[in-house]
Amino acid sequence: MVPESIRKEAERLREALHYHNYRYYVLDDPEIPDAEYDRMMRRLLELEAQYPELVTPDSPSQRVGAPPMEAFETVRHDLPMLSLANGFDEGEIREFDRRVRRMLKMDAVIEYVGEPKMDGLAIEIRYENGLLTRGATRGDGLTGEDVTANIRTIGAIPLRLRGDELPMPRRLDARGEIFMPIEGFKKLNEQRRKEGQPEFSNPRNAAAGSLRQLDSRITASRPLDIYFYGVGVVDGLSFETHWEILKTLPKFGLKTNPHARICRGIEEALTYYREMLKLREELPYEMDGIVLKVNSLALQRELGEVSRSPRWAIAYKFPASQEMTQILDIIVQVGRTGVLTPVAVMRPVEVEGAVVSRATLHNADEIERKDIRIGDWVIVQRAGGVIPEVVQVVTSKRGPDVRPFKFPETCPVCGSPVVRLPGEASHRCMGISCPAQLKAKIRHFASKRAMDIDGLGQKLVEQLVDKGLVKDFADLYHLRLEEIANLERMGEKSAQNLLDEIEKSKQTTLPRFLYALGIPLVGEHLAQVVAEHFGGLEALMAADEESLTEINEIGPQVARSLRTFFDNPQNREVIRRLREAGVRWTPPKKTEDLPLAGEVFVFTGALPDMTRDEAKAIVERLGAQTANQVSKKTTCVVAGEKAGSKLEKAKALGIKILTPEAFLSIIRKYTGEQT
Ligand code: IVH
Repeated sequence: MVPESIRKEAERLREALHYHNYRYYVLDDPEIPDAEYDRMMRRLLELEAQYPELVTPDSPSQRVGAPPMEAFETVRHDLPMLSLANGFDEGEIREFDRRVRRMLKMDAVIEYVGEPKMDGLAIEIRYENGLLTRGATRGDGLTGEDVTANIRTIGAIPLRLRGDELPMPRRLDARGEIFMPIEGFKKLNEQRRKEGQPEFSNPRNAAAGSLRQLDSRITASRPLDIYFYGVGVVDGLSFETHWEILKTLPKFGLKTNPHARICRGIEEALTYYREMLKLREELPYEMDGIVLKVNSLALQRELGEVSRSPRWAIAYKFPASQEMTQILDIIVQVGRTGVLTPVAVMRPVEVEGAVVSRATLHNADEIERKDIRIGDWVIVQRAGGVIPEVVQVVTSKRGPDVRPFKFPETCPVCGSPVVRLPGEASHRCMGISCPAQLKAKIRHFASKRAMDIDGLGQKLVEQLVDKGLVKDFADLYHLRLEEIANLERMGEKSAQNLLDEIEKSKQTTLPRFLYALGIPLVGEHLAQVVAEHFGGLEALMAADEESLTEINEIGPQVARSLRTFFDNPQNREVIRRLREAGVRWTPPKKTEDLPLAGEVFVFTGALPDMTRDEAKAIVERLGAQTANQVSKKTTCVVAGEKAGSKLEKAKALGIKILTPEAFLSIIRKYTGEQT
């Protein structure tokens, strides 16, 4: 009698395996990692072995692969395309070697060929008298799909065999693995993301999806590649070893993997595995293990096969690079620049030999696009072997108690408001003294083009913040000599130098001060623009978003950023304390005091080193007005190359005309470094 709980478990496994089989083979869109599928299959096989009465004719364990899609023509393989038994650890591989030697009654070492196990899809390509006549997928091993039209679009597959080295065989069925190189896979997904199409979860699915296109033009646009690793029916050529096959195929123009190697005995084979595992990260394509094959074809024949797998070969799989786990929580981390990054906290799971329990979810859009919710089961992978990422949600496993993630409205570190500026993907903390950002902010505050505090380098900032001496910009102006002198690599003298520098920095300009505050989106240039427009800090701090956007060059994003920044009480307090400490600036010059006040410039023709807009911006900053047409009000025309009618008109009106060189030397005089 089969216990009820076991019967139920087997039933559930069968259902799940059917569903995932369909996703994988029919839709080319698997939902769970292979490793998870394999585990379910193994558990089912285990149960069926223990209770044979559980086996039903339609059990997934009774069928390998799925029927080919109806739309392609079905073709029979004259020699079945076998699949490989898998081994996952050294013990299983040693056991394979023992079995081989036992069956062959051999004490001596067996010669194997080790090859990378490419992660793509198997294909058989028939050449008749050197011409490509058919390409077929493996399908269920006995029948596959005719994908000749698609195969012909792949550059790495010759349409005609090279015949300069060996006599052309009447027939050569070459077998190999079609795959998509990682670089091409990334580009394809990037493009699909832009077009709003679903992304492929890994290069293998992308390769399979690309090959099984009814429209071969789509296949042609995909970066597919191939390595050949064996033959089916061959007429007019004979081989004695597998190695010979691998060395012969390239002579016909059929490429084989250059990392294949002869391994004498199982020890060498295990060394080969370890070497390939290391190489895995460096290769431009994905490899999911190695394949060991008995080299001698005579011995292969002697060993034969069992349930569609040869006894003379085994795949030694690498640790899976994709696994399934559950999202327990989504937390938010605040980066150096104030950007808030959502991070998935997951049930720890081993991926490629490392335990993964966290993965960045990048930003709110990404969470929405992948529809990730707290409590969801997800596929995680270690992209490029290092940084873990969530590939997709396993929606069929979604329970009723999952909950969507809501971005916090205040910074988890300092409590300041969090904003998402229009057009930006990320949320930011707007706190001027947020500890998460403090070190970077102070470095920026002290930098040359901001407050210019010479000597306040990274090491020093780190110590000042870590020791709690500086919690915001204003604290810099209250540092005492002994506090600084006691820090690492400091002494009285260097401490005094720093204090002198800090003192000196108090006398600054409004644009520098604004830039130093590190207001998101407000760089040096925009700091200059708003400073000039408002003349003083009070007016700027009081301006509403609308009047800010009225300023040339200030868009809604910047206006919003300025407003949010100055509305934050913490920020206002730091500014107040900075001024109290003595930070001051001379009011920016009024327009009438500027050197080009009263001038009206018109530009015509091309300037050698700048655009016309840049030139206009410079003279406007120097107090001049600009116009597009020459009129009586015009005081100066700058005539560059190919100047046209404006130049004629200026001459007629007797207006001053400048060559680009003369213009540049004038503005250089006033702006110094600017041009
Ligand atoms: S040999 C009898 N060699 O792995 C040997 N297969 O599970 C049959 N594969 O369907 C295949 N790289 O898609 C062989 N170097 C390699 C391979 C390889 C990848 C795939 C192939 C095959 C599957 C077997």
